[in-house]
Amino acid sequence: MKKIIAGNWKMNGDPSAMENMLDVLKSVDTENQVIICPPFTLLGHASGAGRIDFGAQDCSAYENGARTGEISAAMIAATEAKYVIVGHSERRQYHNETNEIVAAKAAKAITHGLTPIICVGESLSDKQAGKTLQVIEEQVKNSTIGLQPSSFIIAYEPVWAIGTGLVPTNEDIAIVHARIAALTPAPILYGGSVNKGNAAQIMSIENVAGVLVGGASLKPDEFVPIIMS
Ligand code: PGA
Repeated sequence: MKKIIAGNWKMNGDPSAMENMLDVLKSVDTENQVIICPPFTLLGHASGAGRIDFGAQDCSAYENGARTGEISAAMIAATEAKYVIVGHSERRQYHNETNEIVAAKAAKAITHGLTPIICVGESLSDKQAGKTLQVIEEQVKNSTIGLQPSSFIIAYEPVWAIGTGLVPTNEDIAIVHARIAALTPAPILYGGSVNKGNAAQIMSIENVAGVLVGGASLKPDEFVPIIMS
């Protein structure tokens, strides 16, 4: 079945890395939907990229105005981007983004024709306290308040699995995705230490519509096998 493979470049990459990636991806033959989310400055570099879609990594919760340094959803929609990641755990952690802020950002994205990829995930201490499902349910509900059900994608990214090489068991991924699927009909991606060795297995789990890939999405020799999974 067709999967969604999204690459989150975070604060990495430059024009030559983008050119190289797009060059490599040109010859990749897959039904899967590939979305690259580079830094804002690399959106607009990709005209003629064919089947590849683009996304930003954040957008403002505000329409426009005196918000130095912020980028609005309308500005993102004016590039070739069709998606925007909102509520990534690094934004929640380092920029104090609450579920309410995340929902406001997602609403702006939808207003301007973008599809938000709304991230949720429990911390290690939540997991250790046995609160994973409770935390995820609260994040999903409160980060999607007021949004049309078919207008967004959810990414389940356990905070302790991001950039650590640690991945939940298949069973744990299945349990969390089933709980999210009971709350919303949105496609649900898994993210956190996805690599070319585990992507196919993760995407075979029920209710996993695809993957959100960080580190491995920067390296064509890792990203291409994930796309082909
Ligand atoms: P990772 O990051 O694949 O490097 O663990 C995933 C993410 O933060 O989206």
